[in-house]
Amino acid sequence: MTAYANFPGSRPRRLRTTPTMRRMVAETRLDPANLILPAFVREGIDAPVAISAMPGVHQHTLDTLRKAAVEAVSAGVSGIMLFGVPEDGKKDARGTAGTDPDGILQVALRAVREEVGDELVVMSDLCLDEFTDHGHCGVLDADGRVDNDATLERYAEMAQVQADAGAHVVGPSGMMDGQVGVIRDALDQTGHEDVSILAYTVKYSSAFYGPFREAVGSSLTGDRKTYQQDPANARESLRELALDLAEGADMVMVKPAGPYLDILAKVAESVDVPVAAYQISGEYAMIEAAAEKGWIDRDKAILESLTGIRRAGAQMILTYWATEAAQWLGHGRG
Ligand code: PBG
Repeated sequence: MTAYANFPGSRPRRLRTTPTMRRMVAETRLDPANLILPAFVREGIDAPVAISAMPGVHQHTLDTLRKAAVEAVSAGVSGIMLFGVPEDGKKDARGTAGTDPDGILQVALRAVREEVGDELVVMSDLCLDEFTDHGHCGVLDADGRVDNDATLERYAEMAQVQADAGAHVVGPSGMMDGQVGVIRDALDQTGHEDVSILAYTVKYSSAFYGPFREAVGSSLTGDRKTYQQDPANARESLRELALDLAEGADMVMVKPAGPYLDILAKVAESVDVPVAAYQISGEYAMIEAAAEKGWIDRDKAILESLTGIRRAGAQMILTYWATEAAQWLGHGRG
């Protein structure tokens, strides 16, 4: 009592007394519209394949992908980000399947657009790693290094075929220098001025991508440290950001999300374009695994993790829980 006598207003707990009070003063709100569902579609399967390191997530058939898209729409999710997994034997050094108009990602884009039209923002991962036999995000030079400028030519082709197939947004995730500018030019020159670029502006070389590599059947043996950012660096993110904006990025993304909230906050403070964050496979797997062991409350941990990402400054969050979380939020659990 006496401790507060001179500071009669200093009782923050007054604003925490009831659920309605807490709801009223909450600074951050999560809405289904903030959420984007990343989804995997695999060629040549007739039933969905479970991804063991991501319990609850599957490699979809075209059919189950359509269903997942419809469910996302009903839950109020804003967008879907598609990743294609080609049939065994269809990978090569240049990732040809990634630019084949009948490649799995293009087929999936057409199917999802046919199913949901404009009711979801349909996005495509623009990267070669799912399609190359060496598993790198670009093509290699004679010494086996990822060749930046030769890769840009492949990205330009990918942008065109993905836009032709119906992508509203392309998401270049390969971290090549100059990728946003080259993709913007390719889109503009092929009549796709309205297709936007969600740039993976700040993408760290992260151990937390582990489960994703299973999800896309990655062939990678080494690492991506010559093109993805070093987790030790923060200033470098602002340099990547300035370049992407100058090259014409419509939206920018930070990835992973949870371990990089400081970077997300910095990016969000310094731009006037929409900011996204990608809560990646390892972030998903950690919560699912701890919940499975009974060590944390799964649903609360999911919502808290999403709230933290939103609070740090992400307007859009890519999360494998998008549909489920949107369903909860729609029912007032946020
Ligand atoms: C590259 C790409 C990756 C992810 C999205 N796009 C993997 C990587 O860079 O190794 C990771 C997503 C996740 O872990 O959920 N095409």
